[in-house]
Amino acid sequence: MDNFTKPKVLVGKKADLMSRLADEVEMGIRMRAAENRGFVLGLATGSTPIPLYQELVRRHREEGLSFQNVITFNLDEYEGLAPDHPKSYHAYMEKHLFGQVDVRLERTFLPPGNYEDENRAAQYYEAKIREFGGIDLQILGIGRDGHIGFNEPGSGRETRTRRVALAEVTREDAASGFGGIENVPTHAMTMGVATILEARRIILIATGEGKREVVQEAINGMVNSAVPATFLQDHSNTAWYLDAAAAG
Ligand code: PGA
Repeated sequence: MDNFTKPKVLVGKKADLMSRLADEVEMGIRMRAAENRGFVLGLATGSTPIPLYQELVRRHREEGLSFQNVITFNLDEYEGLAPDHPKSYHAYMEKHLFGQVDVRLERTFLPPGNYEDENRAAQYYEAKIREFGGIDLQILGIGRDGHIGFNEPGSGRETRTRRVALAEVTREDAASGFGGIENVPTHAMTMGVATILEARRIILIATGEGKREVVQEAINGMVNSAVPATFLQDHSNTAWYLDAAAAG
């Protein structure tokens, strides 16, 4: 997966982008399986990656793509939601991927939504990622405010997994799913910017006009914590998969 043979920005139809992304995931899984090793996949939630998961499920069902050697780490989880809460990211992953493929559930990890000691919970998550040798491929979305994971504006380059307050715009964007902004959690546990930047490869997917402005800023703007996605400019193996609306 080397930096020079891959375009940094790929613009295409949404279905084609998702299929290219599924190709990369599949190639990683198969390469590692051939070596009898695990493939460590970083996962994102939200509406953007749903077609990717649909395509991976299809490949599992129709083409025999196995997830037996896959280890997954999700970016984030809302605070206060039990894993079976319908809006939790635990439930999202179960619904869109884990419940539909042969991944070993004991090797699927998400930050906890509930914890007694936030620092211990965060350190445990970081330690798990290290235990599996780090993330091979991290899938990312981007928030309208430039967040990656739930690293909201103000999140520095050195941040690691931790409890964070959600930005107002993030809560607004989630409001309809929760039946009103008053039901959207105010905090979350997220991988940090530094955690994300340690992934060996990163692919950020953004689709739709609503992301156009922030994508432009993230790719071309000055690298700084006001738009945490700008830190991806310093990662040597990041690709941006954009549909025409998001690319502008
Ligand atoms: P979305 O969320 O895919 O639902 O737009 C992206 C994000 O907030 O990272």
